[in-house]
Amino acid sequence: MVCFSRVKLGTEAAWATFPFGVRTGEMASEESSPLLGTAAEVELPAAERPSQLDVYLSKVQNRNVYLATFAAVLGPLSFGFVLGYSSPAIPSLKRSGNPALRLEDSQASWFGSVVTLGAAAGGILGGYLVDKAGRKLSLMFCAVPYVFGFLTIVSAQNVWMLYVGRLLSGLASGVTSLVVPVYISEIAHSKVRGMLGSCVQLMVVTGILGAYMAGMGLGWRWLAVLGSVPPCIMLGLMAFMPETPRFLLSRNQQAEAVAALQFLRGPLVEHEWECREIQASAHEQQELSLAEFKNPSIYKPFFIGVTIMFFQQVSGINAIMFYAETIFEEANFKNSSAASVIVGSIQVFFTAVAALIIDRTGRKILLVFSGFIMAASAAVFGMYFKMALPGPGNSSHVKWSDSPLGLALVEEEHSLAWLAVLSVGLFIMGFALGWGPIPWLVMSEIFPLRARGVASGACVLTNWFMAFLITKEFHDLMVLLTPYGTFWLFSGTCLLSVLFTILCVPETKGKSLEEIEAYFQRLR
Ligand code: BGC
Repeated sequence: MVCFSRVKLGTEAAWATFPFGVRTGEMASEESSPLLGTAAEVELPAAERPSQLDVYLSKVQNRNVYLATFAAVLGPLSFGFVLGYSSPAIPSLKRSGNPALRLEDSQASWFGSVVTLGAAAGGILGGYLVDKAGRKLSLMFCAVPYVFGFLTIVSAQNVWMLYVGRLLSGLASGVTSLVVPVYISEIAHSKVRGMLGSCVQLMVVTGILGAYMAGMGLGWRWLAVLGSVPPCIMLGLMAFMPETPRFLLSRNQQAEAVAALQFLRGPLVEHEWECREIQASAHEQQELSLAEFKNPSIYKPFFIGVTIMFFQQVSGINAIMFYAETIFEEANFKNSSAASVIVGSIQVFFTAVAALIIDRTGRKILLVFSGFIMAASAAVFGMYFKMALPGPGNSSHVKWSDSPLGLALVEEEHSLAWLAVLSVGLFIMGFALGWGPIPWLVMSEIFPLRARGVASGACVLTNWFMAFLITKEFHDLMVLLTPYGTFWLFSGTCLLSVLFTILCVPETKGKSLEEIEAYFQRLR
């Protein structure tokens, strides 16, 4: 409580001097959420302040912040490649001439999913590293397990080496999925933060698509060699990029923070203004203690962050993505690689659309829109199963086969294939427009600086652990609930995610990270 009021004072004091502070009161009054309670309205000597902000932002040069973002998102590109890698590598490993490396079905399933376990562990490691070593060094560190992971796969003599390689590249993916959103959020200013933050997911899906496309021509070994290239480039480029001003100021490295801002904002703005604003909330803060989780300014964003990650995964995205290949094949896309490329391209295109519009539409509206599309399309997909597989229990019509999920359906469905293709395509589009990029963005925006490592770690852990559960348990769920029951369940969870967004997620569009922090501090 003591700490709470001190931070608040610090932030309010900064409003008087720094234009980024001007809209905090707006956020509190406009965007208070029914479930989280109403934030206290704050009196602001308002009128001319937005123009001060505009003046500041009009002098900012974005070139270097784009460059630093480009260097950082080579990390998510690598993590997308790791996710996409198993899809072309598994068929090629199943045909391997070396019996010690030839994967059985159950081994192939572990080869695919062990990445998510490594990434969940990466969430814990990343949460620790990002606060201790800083954002930049943590990101550079990721190159090591990426490259070692891929090299272990390249030099594998047995299946266990393949697993270790996947585990290591998964670990790197987990750390990356935490560090990169935080790095980008902390170097960007409020006008471009949504767009730059959405580039994380854009590069993830580009990496997935890249692996699918390269997998059409390369075998699993050369594909692994290719996968180790982006982390090396990332390592080289990041060496020339600055640490984030927020991390530097939290370490009282004022001169380095000003230099970082000079690089990121160009020479025309008064860097001290932004420095003072960040500092006002950063220098008052001590290390986060467990007892502080009783404080609404900590537990409310923590609850939102973890829940948004939970909902991203229980939407069923990973189940639908794996299943998409089969569905497209059923609809006479004879070549499953081509089907994967179509799925990947839909994701890349609509994630790019989301990145372009998010700073104008805001996060909430896209989340709600995306959740409705996903709920409707998952419901239609369930209906397709119901119609394609008549008969009691439906699950009796599901037989095991060699298809990517190990599931294939009997003939009745062929005539309805168009319905399946349409609903899967719509689902993936819906995800790409909101629930793909925005949870990662929101995670990087809503935590107070000193809780950012621990809380983001919990989010990443939740996300990857749920991804593991869904991909591993999806088969059993289909048998237990029948296929249509399973997709209606996903439809229901998508509707719940819409409700959660409306009730709990604050709009962070156009706000500085300090304004967002101040908003949560005023909640009771
Ligand atoms: C999710 C992954 C998913 C990927 C697909 C990411 O945002 O966290 O679980 O596989 O998007 O596009």
